Amino acid sequence: MATLSESDALDVLLPVQVGRVRLRNLTLLASGILDELGGSLVRAVRAGAGGVVTKSIGTHPRSGHPSPSFFEVESGAMNAMGLPNPGIEAYGEDMEAVVPEANALGAPVVGSVFAGTGDEFVALTQKMEEYGATAVELNLSCPHAKGYGTDIGADPKVMGPIVQACVDAVDIPVWAKLTPNVTDITPCAIAAARAGAEALTLVNTVKAIAIDPDLRRPILGNTIGGLSGAAIKPIGVRAAWDVWNALEKEGIHPVKNCPLVGSGGVESARDALEYILAGASAVQVGTAFLRQGYDVFGRITEGVRAWLDEQPEDDLRAVVGTAHL
Ligand code: FUM
Repeated sequence: MATLSESDALDVLLPVQVGRVRLRNLTLLASGILDELGGSLVRAVRAGAGGVVTKSIGTHPRSGHPSPSFFEVESGAMNAMGLPNPGIEAYGEDMEAVVPEANALGAPVVGSVFAGTGDEFVALTQKMEEYGATAVELNLSCPHAKGYGTDIGADPKVMGPIVQACVDAVDIPVWAKLTPNVTDITPCAIAAARAGAEALTLVNTVKAIAIDPDLRRPILGNTIGGLSGAAIKPIGVRAAWDVWNALEKEGIHPVKNCPLVGSGGVESARDALEYILAGASAVQVGTAFLRQGYDVFGRITEGVRAWLDEQPEDDLRAVVGTAHL
C-alpha cells in the first residue's frame, strides 16, 4: 500500500466535532502508546493524527511495573506498563513542546491524567488546563495499577463524583475513559455523562494474563496486564453500541450531549467505521500505531473519506450511530 508523506497526511481532512473539541479528522493517538513526550506527540500530529492524547500523568513521578511490561500477541498486544510517567510538574515541559505546534496544525492535545482520589484528579485536571490542553481525559480504567484506573472507575458511585469535581474545577472539556472490565459498562457511562463529562472514551484494555509454558510463569512482570488491538475491537464496538442505547434512554444525546470516542482495535478505515456506525463520533488509535507507524492516521482518514463519498450523507456526523436505525 502506498504510504502517505507527512504533508500528504495533513491534506486528508475530515473535521469532526467531539463536544467543544474540534478534531482535524476522526483519528486521535490513544494514551499510553508512545513514550508520549512532547517530540513524539508532535510527530503524530505532523503525520496526520486528528488529535493526540498524552500519556497518563499522575501527581508524582512513577517508574511503573517491572519488565517485561509489553509484548505483542497474534491478535494485538499485552501491556502492564504500570502508569510510568514523570509526574505532572515535569510534564509541563512536554506540554510546552507539543501544544503550540499541534494547535497551529489544528490538532487538539488531550491531557490524560490518573489519580487515586478526587482531589488529586482535580489538581491534575487544573494543571492540564494551565498547560494548554484542549481537554482532559480522566483515566478511570487502567486495569493493572492498584488503587488507580479500574479500581476507581468500575464503580459509578465513586467515579461519578470524581468526574463532577473535575468538571466543576475547569473550563476545558472533561472526557472519561471507561473500563470494559465490568459486567455492564452503561452505569458508569451514565454516571459520567450525568456528571458533565463532555465525551466518553470506550474502552481501555481488557484485563488479561499470558503464561510462558517453558518458564511456567506469567510473562508480564506484573502478571496481570491489559489486552489491546484487534482482539478487543468487538468488545469496544459493543461498548459503543450499549452506551449509545443507554444514553438515548436517559435522554442524553450520544452525539450532541455526550459524544463517544471509540478505542480498541482500530487498525483500518473499516474498523473505524464499525465504531462510527455503532455510535462513536471519533476513534483513538493505539496498538495499530505500533504495527503500522505514523501513516496509520492518514490511511484511516482517507479510507473513511472514500467510504463517505459513496454514501448519500456528505457529513460523517450524519452517519454516526446509523447502524441502530
Ligand atoms: O500503564 C499505562 O500507562 C497504561 C495505562 C492504561 O492502561 O490506562
